Amino acid sequence: MSLDAVLARIDSDLPAATDRLLELLRIQSISTDPAYKAECDKAADWLVADLQSLGVSAEKRATPGHPMVVGHVDGPGPHVLFYGHYDVQPVDPLNLWDRDPFDPAIEETPKGKVIRGRGSSDDKGQLMTFIEACRAWKAEHGALPCKITFFLEGEEESGSPSLVPFMKENAEELKAEIALICDTGLFQSKTPAIMTMLRGLLGEELTITGPDKDLHSGMYGGIAMNPARVLTKILGGLFDENGVIQVPELYEGVPELSDELKAQWEGLGFDAKGFLGDVGLSVPAGENSVTPLEMIWARPTAEINGIWSGYTGDGFKTVLPSEAHAKISFRLVGTQDPQAIRKNFRAWVEAQLPADCKIAWTDHSCSPASQMSTEHPGFEAARKALSDEWPDPAAYAGCGGSIPIAGYFKTILDMDAMLVGWGKDDDQIHSPNEKYDLESYHKGIRSWARILDAMSA
Ligand code: BES
Ligand code: ZN
Repeated sequence: MSLDAVLARIDSDLPAATDRLLELLRIQSISTDPAYKAECDKAADWLVADLQSLGVSAEKRATPGHPMVVGHVDGPGPHVLFYGHYDVQPVDPLNLWDRDPFDPAIEETPKGKVIRGRGSSDDKGQLMTFIEACRAWKAEHGALPCKITFFLEGEEESGSPSLVPFMKENAEELKAEIALICDTGLFQSKTPAIMTMLRGLLGEELTITGPDKDLHSGMYGGIAMNPARVLTKILGGLFDENGVIQVPELYEGVPELSDELKAQWEGLGFDAKGFLGDVGLSVPAGENSVTPLEMIWARPTAEINGIWSGYTGDGFKTVLPSEAHAKISFRLVGTQDPQAIRKNFRAWVEAQLPADCKIAWTDHSCSPASQMSTEHPGFEAARKALSDEWPDPAAYAGCGGSIPIAGYFKTILDMDAMLVGWGKDDDQIHSPNEKYDLESYHKGIRSWARILDAMSA
């Protein structure tokens, strides 16, 4: 059978496939930092060359930010679009890494072999699982089983500023029957999951200014308003004692879960104790009226992602700072409107500012939540294919993270998107010592071969 030959080739080619991933991981494509612009370009060039070697007509396409990689190849099966991102998160704090984040390697760990390095899981390792599956098909059969459009982005980790205009300008070219997105993980690190819900995201940054210069806290302390005191008081009021976010109208558009969905999620047997235990915690910190799984998949959040003011270096300085800063993000669900929440949050903060304090705002990313339809026959085909590869049958699941493009496929291109991926909860994406299990890479490649086979049948 043709699939068996492809799977056997994937198994025997794994060392070479791993070497190719290591090459891509050595490129320092940190999209948010302008100092790495040339590296982002280099990653795009590397992917263009790699796709061309598979017979894909691939090109680097300029945007006002980092380039997109777009490629097309013909095949007998349905027309699918594959999306992944080649950019990665910054690596700091560098001192917490056990190796150079851009000098990746295979490491032996008590849980098995891992590929260690920035982007190994998010998202270079994942996007290469698809490309490697295509390579094996091509090598075995001389052609691919489906018509495929490749669409690889270099700005996902910095809010995808060029994405919407690019999708609109190239709508005809990008349109396919279904989009396949590989940027998510396994449920509980072992169950293959097709994500049907993604949370949206709203990022806000604020600076509160009190005195017009830093002051000596002996000379001015007591008489001068300290902006750090103002900031912490306001942010201290973000939640009530039940974990409910206090920004007015924030819960507008947050849906009630259907009994059917609640029952399906209940059946997944989420181990909240283990999930928290893995990161040194024990008590769920969300709204105390909802289940732990709902907290990460179906409820909005407000997080302080960064907060700074005054002197934070070594030693001590009796400063009364002039400014206090915070970066805050909201994860959004249902039909919550990011713009309305931005407006209400700002009004809520500003209404609490005391005399003499000023505030300045910076907009960051903003995307609504998305809900995937699973009616396209590709979903059931993929679910069966995944169940053949992994010990557990595949499940429909939610995802607490945000992948703005998933919603844009529907709203801009009128396409359904299917999100599958092979990351594990302990991959430490965005953190020091990011890794991707060799098992994720190997079974991920095999999974894509099975999915392409099932879709082309
Ligand atoms: N791969 C992640 C999304 C993700 C996170 C999937 C957690 C599964 C679990 C993606 O690269 C990401 O980090 N997205 C950002 C989006 C933001 C920068 C616009 C996120 O969720 O914070
Ligand atoms: Zn990410």
